[in-house]
Amino acid sequence: LKRAIASLSHSQTSRDSTRMQNIQEILDEIFGAAISSACPDITDAPVVITLSNNAKFGDYQCNSAMQISNIYKQLGKKVSPRDIANKIVENVSPHELVDKLEVAGPGFINVFVSKAFGLRNLSTIFTHGVRPPPYKKLRVVVDLSSPNIAKEMHVGHLRSTIIGDTICRLLEFLGHDVLRINHIGDWGTQFGMLIVHLQEKFPDYLSKAPPISDLQAFYKESKKRFDEDEDFKKRAYAGVVKLQSGDPNYIKAWQLICDVSRKEFQVIYDRLDVKLIERGESFYQSRMNDIVKELEAGGYLEDDEGRKVMWGDKNDGNIPFTVVKSDGGYTYDTSDLATIKQRIVEEKGDWLIYVTDAGQGTHFYILFQIARKIGLLTDNIRVDHVPFGVVLGEDKKKFKTRSGDTVRLIDLLEEGLKRALDKLKEKGRDQVLTPEELKQAQESIAYGCIKYADLSHNRHHEYVFSFDKMLEDKGNTAVYLLYAYTRIRSIARTANFDDKKIEDVAKSHTISLDHEKEWKLAKVLLKFPEELDKVTKDLCPHHLCEYVYEIATTFTEFYDSCYCVEKDSSGDIVKVNHGRILLAEATARVMAKCLDILGLKPVAKM
Ligand code: ARG
Repeated sequence: LKRAIASLSHSQTSRDSTRMQNIQEILDEIFGAAISSACPDITDAPVVITLSNNAKFGDYQCNSAMQISNIYKQLGKKVSPRDIANKIVENVSPHELVDKLEVAGPGFINVFVSKAFGLRNLSTIFTHGVRPPPYKKLRVVVDLSSPNIAKEMHVGHLRSTIIGDTICRLLEFLGHDVLRINHIGDWGTQFGMLIVHLQEKFPDYLSKAPPISDLQAFYKESKKRFDEDEDFKKRAYAGVVKLQSGDPNYIKAWQLICDVSRKEFQVIYDRLDVKLIERGESFYQSRMNDIVKELEAGGYLEDDEGRKVMWGDKNDGNIPFTVVKSDGGYTYDTSDLATIKQRIVEEKGDWLIYVTDAGQGTHFYILFQIARKIGLLTDNIRVDHVPFGVVLGEDKKKFKTRSGDTVRLIDLLEEGLKRALDKLKEKGRDQVLTPEELKQAQESIAYGCIKYADLSHNRHHEYVFSFDKMLEDKGNTAVYLLYAYTRIRSIARTANFDDKKIEDVAKSHTISLDHEKEWKLAKVLLKFPEELDKVTKDLCPHHLCEYVYEIATTFTEFYDSCYCVEKDSSGDIVKVNHGRILLAEATARVMAKCLDILGLKPVAKM
């Protein structure tokens, strides 16, 4: 019985009076059933439900009839799509969601959503808040950001941080148990040269903190010595061995260096409000020893000119993983083998996500193959490499400073702040807002526009970093959305409604859905569950950006033709349309949730 109850509560289509239902899913289910009754002679007939792109043709469409007619043709039967469509319609059992079904054109079935369903679903926003669709709670391990110590955190890491954070926020909202891991590169061979350089340049480093706050310069210095001085190179190699064997002085030097980087990274995370658990490569040192032993014992390793390698699938043209180098050292490959094992066995992850640049696609492809091969990764576990394209400058070349250096993230954020302030001043906002409000608006715009520009582009593509573009106040930008949101929020205030009042109104009035533009807006809001579902499936946040933009533009259409608060010429309120205030409030709440998932922070005034 317990199982039955559990499975019931996870059924997406079961009527749940506390949250919005996923329309797409309900339609899949009811049309799935209708199609199997209408065409019992076809197994697994395609159930194709799409959003309609023209209100004339309903809100959703079922396009299965054409495909089914083709299947019949192949079976030597001639049945017209229209006949099939009619038969499907006959077999759709009545559902609250469906107002009307229509067969159109060659055999499309147009679905019109009922207002009763819309009203009941939107009302849950006032009774229970904007709640996520029900999902089975999973333990999700997300690997994001993951910069390297002593090397500057660059725009690629910024993308990983921003995209990864949104994925975490989404999954947290859905109720999953999310572990946000910052897999920083703190254990590479570069530490040999860094430590030896530190020891030689600041011999008293154990008692007195060395002045290495400019770690990038320090890195360059030691790299120069490493490249030019054979003897230094030897000492550096010996240094790695000492570090990895746990020599206390080397560990101390390593910590000093890591701390400098860590502080720098933290400044960026604080500004962007991204929370992470730091667990760098060093954490896996002993686990790497273990997995290597296991692979060795399992007979998985092959000798390749002194290296020990392991193949995923030999036939797909990929290269093998280098598990142990000829000098006995480990590699990035080894560390990820230990990592995936730790996440499955110790963390009990049901779902593993890695957010990195697309260049690491092959690495993760092979990693997952190997993990399957050794029985670690099973069909119960979902794994995703979430790749993203490179960031380009406005010259369409790799994003660099004018002098050709990597752009320091902190400088980038500073410039964002400056530009955001300029923008606010341009609009004369500094005359209206208090200094504190101005500062909040500035930060909201600066960090919001940087995040949103990244998230609103399909992550598979490269994108051009342009402050001018991202600070535009028209089109699908953070600035536009933040303003739109603030405006919607201010409507209730114009009517002198506070939160308490809105709560009362929600009890005494219903959301107004009579006007064509009201109903249009309502239907956009009703897509919230299916939009979240879309992003959960392909982990592409730009869908959510497009959705929130659609909300904002549809709201404008509504607001242009439907008054919410009517005032006379002297500015006194003559009439308040309560049902519309509720619709505006519902819009604001859905939008707020989307903005929150995207990591944007709207302010009350801007
Ligand atoms: N530190 C790496 C880089 O800068 C990213 C690490 C990603 N995570 C992982 N488990 N390999 O490219």
